[in-house]
Amino acid sequence: MGTRGSGETPTDRTKDGGRQYRLDRPRCDADWQAYHGIRRKVFHLPRPVEEISPTCHPLLLFLEDQPIGAIQVDDLGNEAAALRLVAIDPAHQGGGHGRAMLERAEQFAQEIGCGKAVVYATPESAGFYQSLGYDEDDWDEICMGGIVQMLKVLDR
Ligand SMILES: CC(C)(COP(=O)(O)OP(=O)(O)OC[C@H]1O[C@@H](n2cnc3c(N)ncnc32)[C@H](O)[C@@H]1OP(=O)(O)O)[C@@H](O)C(=O)NCCC(=O)NCCS
Repeated sequence: MGTRGSGETPTDRTKDGGRQYRLDRPRCDADWQAYHGIRRKVFHLPRPVEEISPTCHPLLLFLEDQPIGAIQVDDLGNEAAALRLVAIDPAHQGGGHGRAMLERAEQFAQEIGCGKAVVYATPESAGFYQSLGYDEDDWDEICMGGIVQMLKVLDR
């Protein structure tokens, strides 16, 4: 298990088809502005005022050092990580970046000790998760209308 969640360990800089991606926590005000800007554009979410909890990991996807995606990884404390508010900037959607972000978020989840990833998918996005190996699974007893609960066991 790594220490990515809390420490200053190196970030993930890897290439997909010649593209250099980095999934990293926001480290400066410009990063936070990008993080909340993407979430605002995609989900119309205002910048929250509450503190980030130690089990909640906000992460930004950089492509060649440009922030293009935002995701929140929550350690649920039961070996599962919830991937929340998965968002690629609308100008960059449909180019394989969502896949790249999710794969790196899954790797992050493993590094903080989680063996599975879970999501609440909208019916429109369920196909995206399916193409990445997620299956329908009622992992949360709370049932929200119109939401598809999905789960993926992460390779060790
Ligand atoms: C969903 C989202 C994160 C996907 O990111 P993306 O960069 O557009 O997707 P990618 O180009 O990486 O697609 C990866 C794969 O998923 C498929 N896919 C993407 N969106 C899909 C959808 N809505 N339905 C079915 N399949 C989809 C792609 O065809 C691709 O398949 P392939 O690799 O077999 O060719 C992005 O479109 C987004 O931010 N949407 C708005 C917010 C949202 O719906 N978030 C998820 C719910 S919280």
